[in-house]
Order: sequence, then structure tokens, then C-alpha cells
Amino acid sequence: MELLEAHASAPGKVILFGEHAVVYGEPSLSLAVARRTRVSGETVGSQFTVNGFPLNPEFHAYIERAIRLHWDAVPLRLQTESEIPSGSGIGSSAALSVAINAVLLRLKRQAMPPVADVASAAFETEFATQGAASPNDTTVSTAGGGVLMSPRRLEGAEVEFLWRIQRGEREWNAHRVRIPRLPLVVGNTGMKGKTSEQVAKVRRFVEHSAFARDAIRDIGRLTLQGAEALRVGDLRRVGDLMNRNHGLLHTLGVDTPRLEQLVEAARKAPGTLGAKLTGAGGGGCMIALTEQPEECRRRLEQAGAMAFSVEASPEGLRFEQER
Ligand code: MEV
Repeated sequence: MELLEAHASAPGKVILFGEHAVVYGEPSLSLAVARRTRVSGETVGSQFTVNGFPLNPEFHAYIERAIRLHWDAVPLRLQTESEIPSGSGIGSSAALSVAINAVLLRLKRQAMPPVADVASAAFETEFATQGAASPNDTTVSTAGGGVLMSPRRLEGAEVEFLWRIQRGEREWNAHRVRIPRLPLVVGNTGMKGKTSEQVAKVRRFVEHSAFARDAIRDIGRLTLQGAEALRVGDLRRVGDLMNRNHGLLHTLGVDTPRLEQLVEAARKAPGTLGAKLTGAGGGGCMIALTEQPEECRRRLEQAGAMAFSVEASPEGLRFEQER
């Protein structure tokens, strides 16, 4: 019998180390978080709709692009629902790209698509919509848990190779890594940063400045040190490296005065081990690693942020029950 509807959900993420540098093939380390985006699709009606409205590229850019890349002309009724604040650097567009592509591939193939195919389709969608991207966010959202991206395939008992994604001359190798329980607090500036603008801004800097290229390489080195510190459970060192990663992102120009205030407020809170912006920057969120999450959250709220603790999500893409 033909399958006429599909449902999928995918989590958001926080980047612990390596945003922006990963676009240039440097390593990054991220964690999926227990906030999800859900998409349902049904092949009914005479036009494409999203949440009851006609599909509009201005408001539904990622969905429209995914349809253009990975679907045909058959109209779909789509419903979306998200627990992830949009434009805040914690992976709302990646989770949407993963969930919509999972629904499209499921319906198109009339069979469960391999997760690596969904990850690849979601990356193409993000890349095409943003004009540039690494597969970091879509990979983490597909795989769940802790993910280390690297320009080379890594061997060893502590990493599990997931898949490789190539684009042009670059390749990214995704690995699952075990991350200890991390008490993380997110502070949201409430200002939306546009990933495409921040990525383009860094690109201009990198093209013209050896100093920026050095910063990118330093972030890559520090990410591998962070992965090692996490592996041995040295959270003080993880915090220290997060602070240094933030300094390099500041150098690259993606920090903002508001993000800086929140990072400072978190660092002054008792128990904080380290704090940095997370995601593309230019607004959005910062994260703090802390021994006293409640106190850190309170200080961030006092500084005017919307703040919340984040739980890791071991689960990535999930196909929901078909009715
Ligand atoms: C955004 O969450 C992460 C960036 O590194 C962009 C990307 O990897 O596509 C800034």
C-alpha cells in the first residue's frame, strides 16, 4: 500500500568547540540537545502548505529549498512544530532541515532512508539556503549525542566513525564521541543572528588576513585539545579551552557587545568553569559550563538573558509513528 504520510523529528545542538573553523575543514565538537523540531508531511491537497499557509520561500526558506532539491511536484501538506528558538545558534535550521528531508525521502522512496542519506540531503539544503555551511549542525542533529567532525577519519577506541561528507575539495568525517554529563547553561541574547551573514563576514576576513587564517587553525587545534579534555573528564580544562575559543571567535568578529556581557556575567558566577558564544554569533546564544547551573542561570537572567539549562540528547533523527 502506498505511504501517504510521514513524520520525523530532530534535535537542536550546542557547539562546544569549533564553530566557523569547521566551515574551513577544521575539527568541531558538538552535542545534540533535548529540544526538538517535528515535521509531518502528507501528500494531499492541490498546493504545498505549511501549517495551513501556502508555502512561501520568504518564510519557509529551508522547507522550500528541501522540496526543490529532494522532492517532485506532488503537493504536500506540511506541519511543523519546534521547541528550539530560531536564529539563536542552537540548531533550529539544522533540525528543520533534517526533519523535512527525512519526511521527503521517506515519502519519495517509500522505504526508510539510511540516516547518512538524510544527513547529506539536510546539509545540501542548509548549504543552498545559507550560501555556505559546514555539515556540522545537520550531522549532529541527525546523529544525536556528541559528534566530532574532522578533516580526516579518526581511529581509536574512543571514537566511532559515522560517515563522510564531501563538498568541492573539502571533506568532513563525522565521529560519535562519548561526552560526560555536562552541566551547561544557555543564555539567549534574544537577538537573532543570521548564520549566512556571519559565515560571509568571516570568509571576507579569512580571505584577506593571515591573522584570521591563524585564528581558524588555532580553533581547530584547541577543539582537539577540548575533545581530549572531555575524554579524560577534565572539566576545568574544558572550561578554560571554551574561554579561549570564545576569545578567538571575538577576534574573528562574530561576538557582539550583548554576547560579551552575558559571557562576562556567566564567568563571574560562582562555579562557572568556562563560557563562550555558541553557533554563528552576531546575536543568538552563549553557553556556560558550570558546577552551579541554577546560580549561573540566575546571573544570566539578571543580566537580561533568557537562560535555561540544556540536557544532552543521545537521540538524533527519529521517524515518528505512522498512523
Ligand atoms: C553555525 O551553527 C555553525 C557555523 O560553523 C556554520 C556552519 O558550520 O555551517 C558558524
